[in-house]
Amino acid sequence: MFEKILYPTDFSDVSKKALAYIKSLKNTGTKQVIILRVINKNKAERISQGVAWAGVEVADFLKETYQRLEEEAYEEVKPVESELKEAGFDVKIRVEKGHPYSKILDVEREEDVSAIVLGSHGRSNVEEILLGSVSEHVIRYSKKPVLVVKRD
Ligand SMILES: Nc1ncnc2c1ncn2[C@@H]1O[C@H](COP(=O)(O)OP(=O)(O)OP(=O)(O)O)[C@@H](O)[C@H]1O
Ligand SMILES: [Mg+2]
Repeated sequence: MFEKILYPTDFSDVSKKALAYIKSLKNTGTKQVIILRVINKNKAERISQGVAWAGVEVADFLKETYQRLEEEAYEEVKPVESELKEAGFDVKIRVEKGHPYSKILDVEREEDVSAIVLGSHGRSNVEEILLGSVSEHVIRYSKKPVLVVKRD
């Protein structure tokens, strides 16, 4: 039923909890998992803007910031990829730059996935908030079923 799953992750505890659910989907016919990490464009630009005040060229620093964040993302993806491969899935990795929720929806369409599995919250994990802004937006605009894994 859910042959191809899109798994967007910010490597937060809640998003890691979603991995366990993905693994249990093996028995219901899931074959491929696309791991997606979006490097937040706004955050990278904010970091670079701060450095501009210190007199460094923004464009150069922005390029370096993206490069560093991209390297970090691939490092963080590795154990997740191994875990899913060991569980018998075909795994594809996508590291993208942009606004997390729009990129998630872009990749949903591009890859024509069967469903999205993500955490209810991410790195911010504010106690009083029912859903993080990324999960809320994805639930609202996704054309495909969304499995939201709740925090403890
Ligand atoms: N940059 C990202 N790349 C890929 N997936 C992400 C990204 N950010 C969040 N997600 C996914 O969305 C889920 C919910 O995270 P979200 O960012 O909405 O919550 P939050 O960090 O608690 O709140 P907010 O970001 O609104 O302050 C995460 O568990 C993860 O699966
Ligand atoms: Mg977040």
